[in-house]
Amino acid sequence: TDRKITIAIDGYSSCGKSTMAKALARSLGYIYIDSGAMYRAVTLYSLRHGMWNQGEVDQERLAKDMPQLKVSFKRDDLGQLRTLLNDEDVEEAIRTMEVSNRVSPIAALPFVRSALTLQQQALGREKGIVMDGRDIGTTVFPFAELKIFVTARPEVRAQRRFDELRSKGDMTSTLEEVLTNLKERDHIDSTRAISPLRQADDARVLDNSELTLDQQDAVALSWARETIAQCSAPK
Ligand code: CDP
Ligand code: CDP
Repeated sequence: TDRKITIAIDGYSSCGKSTMAKALARSLGYIYIDSGAMYRAVTLYSLRHGMWNQGEVDQERLAKDMPQLKVSFKRDDLGQLRTLLNDEDVEEAIRTMEVSNRVSPIAALPFVRSALTLQQQALGREKGIVMDGRDIGTTVFPFAELKIFVTARPEVRAQRRFDELRSKGDMTSTLEEVLTNLKERDHIDSTRAISPLRQADDARVLDNSELTLDQQDAVALSWARETIAQCSAPK
């Protein structure tokens, strides 16, 4: 029988990581975990508790609350994953531009990263998991059997995220603002001191600028099946 593996998907903002990860998990019968949702949930908490002042977060207050902060996931009736913050469903609340604009500084804080990394590693203990984020192949699961690094041109990614916000009825931001946010986050995420976004040496790279969702998912699934076959073959 096939061995279960760990699949790490990393890459820039809005390039199709979560769509790919969900499709893989569905096809393989694996668990899917959106690590970005965990950073977004902590960010939402900091905003709701008034921890921001003149563009700076009160690190001391956040660090004090961090041990009591619980991020978890549940499935709705349609099987879609929903993010919970201290048992409250915050799936919509964490996807706003307000959260997007604050999440990268929060994700650069060492005490936030260490707490969430431990939770992510615990979730992956049994293998049979697909996790997407920025540092999954480099820090969270450095021994993942399959690592995929996804990228696409910034303009393509901004247009995709913009269309997504519009389709959810979110009319608050322009395409220009979405592009600016995306470039800003890419910059902060790739230059921070701890676990910056970078391609793992053993990652397979997929530029999906010119690929449809079906095409990118097909490539990812073929890589996954190949890796599972290699790992399951008798030595
Ligand atoms: O979906 P989108 O590309 O907008 O971002 P996300 O995956 O929801 O992640 C939001 C933010 O969380 C990223 O811009 C990073 O700052 C942070 N993040 C991280 O630092 N490490 C991860 N493993 C996942 C997300
Ligand atoms: O998780 P990440 O932020 O990397 O991206 P996503 O949420 O999976 O994808 C962002 C948007 O781009 C979604 O609306 C996808 O449907 C769309 N997309 C696309 O149209 N074509 C692709 N090849 C990849 C993503």
